Amino acid sequence: AIPTFVAILAGYFLGAIPFGLLLAKATGQGDIRKIGSGNIGATNVLRTGRKDIAALTLLLDAAKAGVTGLVVAHFFGQPYGYIAAAAALVGHCYPVWLGFKGGKGVATFFGGLFALVWPVGLFAAIVWLATAFITRLSSLGALLACVFSSILAWLISPLAAALMVSFMAVIILIRHRENISRLLRGQESKIGQKS
Ligand code: G3P
Repeated sequence: AIPTFVAILAGYFLGAIPFGLLLAKATGQGDIRKIGSGNIGATNVLRTGRKDIAALTLLLDAAKAGVTGLVVAHFFGQPYGYIAAAAALVGHCYPVWLGFKGGKGVATFFGGLFALVWPVGLFAAIVWLATAFITRLSSLGALLACVFSSILAWLISPLAAALMVSFMAVIILIRHRENISRLLRGQESKIGQKS
């Protein structure tokens, strides 16, 4: 019971740190929630034109699940690492500090996957990069990466890992509802595009 408790609490509260919001504010970009899609993630931070803080947001949001997952796995065993990474994703998407209105979880998902099931993480990253390169649509890349990496995890990973990947993927899909309807209407903004 104690490892589960630690994994959930550490994951959730570290995951709930809104790095994109804090970095944008600290560098004088104002409230990132009033720019572009209004999201607090790296894709939207890039819409300020600041590639450096966008990259840092990506890295730190990935570390929430990656580092927390690795540390918890080290002390309590791999399955607890999965719980911590999943909790970090919940914290990122539904942070108590922002009235439970957080990010979309993509960077955090990649961080957790690379740290705990790296072959699936690598595959997800390739799907994202290929989609983003071809279509310039970050959200579409994320959605395809979620679906295909879940399928791969069920084929090649232990049950607990596959459960973590699918759980995270479902939350990311839910957080992309508005992106999905924009994609269907052909109105989704491209990477680096302001609105
Ligand atoms: O990283 C989140 C991405 O999939 C969508 O972001 O800002 O275009 O809604 P955004």
